[in-house]
Order: sequence, then structure tokens, then C-alpha cells
Amino acid sequence: MLRVQDLCKTLPNGRKLLNGISFSVEKGEFVGLLGPSGAGKSLTLRCVLGLTSATSGSVDFESPDGNTHSICDLRQNQLRRVRCHIGVIFQGLNLVQQLTVLENVMIGKLGCIHPLRSWLYGFTDREAREAFEALKEVNMESFAERRAYSLSGGEMQRVAIARATFQKPSFYLADEPVSNLDPKNAKAIMKILAQLAKKTSVLGVFHQPDLIAKYCTRVIAIKGGEVVYNGDPKISPRKLADIYGDELQELEISQQNGQELKQMVPATG
Ligand SMILES: Nc1ncnc2c1ncn2[C@@H]1O[C@H](COP(=O)(O)OP(=O)(O)OP(=O)(O)O)[C@@H](O)[C@H]1O
Ligand SMILES: [Mg+2]
Repeated sequence: MLRVQDLCKTLPNGRKLLNGISFSVEKGEFVGLLGPSGAGKSLTLRCVLGLTSATSGSVDFESPDGNTHSICDLRQNQLRRVRCHIGVIFQGLNLVQQLTVLENVMIGKLGCIHPLRSWLYGFTDREAREAFEALKEVNMESFAERRAYSLSGGEMQRVAIARATFQKPSFYLADEPVSNLDPKNAKAIMKILAQLAKKTSVLGVFHQPDLIAKYCTRVIAIKGGEVVYNGDPKISPRKLADIYGDELQELEISQQNGQELKQMVPATG
């Protein structure tokens, strides 16, 4: 579905941000991307989406019709069409605060419908019903008429997922979709993503090795712009220490805090 080969991004001053990243993601996989801050995880996702150009290397994406698109070589209008097959779930999520939850879900498709229709007619009743169904999938249908600014972080994150699923993509990219959530909400979002991955593919950045171990089917670790691990999501403590170095202690402390919090929050079903 997705093949990233020897992706490099070098700044004009010679600093290498990505230094030969290669991996692939197949249908049905839920791949967790982890690594220290500044490792190049978000940049890799941006290159996959064609939002940032790579200095060299390739990103091949197979759309549901079986065609393979070489993302790095596409023009803007071609890129827009390919991106319709990719659902993007980012942290903090660029919801339009003044719009309702339902409207926020529907605008996820704006880039995929003909501009004339989006200017003149807006969305059809059928699309509104489908958007409502997408909200139901994440238990947010009762919030459909609420303005986005009134939602909690966990609720916003669910709306962001509904917005991505409404697009009916064949591939999901998620950048830290659970970072600002309490353990209960983080677990709920991971469950939703794992469910989505069964029929599509999900590539997501996470800073929580325990959640990756529990929900992902594979993990790829990036450090200093290079892939340093690609395999079993249950990473050994020794390997984690390799990957994170000095940051590990900080991570352990924040996870201990999460554990304490978890004990105070009732488990989700
Ligand atoms: N457009 C850019 N111009 C210059 N430097 C950039 C650009 N985009 C990213 N960088 C740098 O590239 C490095 C990797 O950034 P990236 O956003 O991929 O980190 P990350 O692995 O996602 O980290 P975090 O976990 O903190 O989100 C960082 O040092 C960042 O400052
Ligand atoms: Mg990042």
C-alpha cells in the first residue's frame, strides 16, 4: 500500500533531517512510529503526504483502484486526488472552532469534491447522513450540533477521526493522535484506530511504547532521521534505551504518572 524508499531531506546548510528512511506498510497493518523528539517522524509523514518535498528518495502509494502513485513526482492537482485516499488525523486537530461537529466532519471531504459543488451546493443530504454515521462510530452523534470550541480534547480527537473516516480513505496517517489525552481516552482512540486498521492501514506516531505494544501490529523507530528498528511492537527495554537514550528516563516518569492517573480512571469496556 505504501512504500517509502531511501527518503532523504537535507537543509541548504547541509543538515540532514531525514537520512535514508525506508519502510513499507501493507493493508491490515497498524504501524506505530516512535522515536525521540526531533527524530524526523512528523517530517516523514509530511513527505508521505507530499506536504514537504524530499531531497531524494521515493514514496509510492497504491490507491484502491490498484494504481501506484509516486508521491514525490506528482503535481499539486494530482496530489490532491491521491490525498483523498488518505485520512489524516493530527494532534490538536485543526477543527474549525466556530463550526458544528457535523460540519467539521463534512469539511474533511471538501478537497475531494468538485470545487463548483462545494461553492454552489454544499453537501448533499446523503453526505450529511454519512457524516452522522461517522460520528456514531466514535460515539459522538449526540454532539453533532455542538460548536467545536466547546469540546474536550478527547471529544475533538474523536471528531477528527470521524472526519477522516467520513472521507472513506484506504489509508490513515495519524501524528500523535493520543498525546494530550488521559489514559482512558488514549486507550479508546487506540482501539478505534486498531479497528480501522483491520480494513485499511494505519501509520501513526505515538510516544507511548506501552500503547504501541498493546494495539499496533508493528513498530518502526526513527532516530536522527534513520530507521533504527522495524519489527515486533513489544520492544525490549534495552532496545527502548537505545532508541531514546537520555529521553527514556523522562518517558518513564511520564508513563508512571500516566499509570497513577489510570488507577484513578475507571477502565474502558
Ligand atoms: N521545514 C523545516 N525546516 C527546517 N527544519 C525542519 C523543518 N521541518 C522539520 N525540521 C526539523 O527536522 C527535525 C525533525 O522534525 P520532526 O517534526 O519530524 O520531529 P519529530 O520526530 O516529529 O519530533 P516530535 O516528537 O517532537 O514531534 C527537527 O529538528 C525539526 O526542527
Ligand atoms: Mg512530531
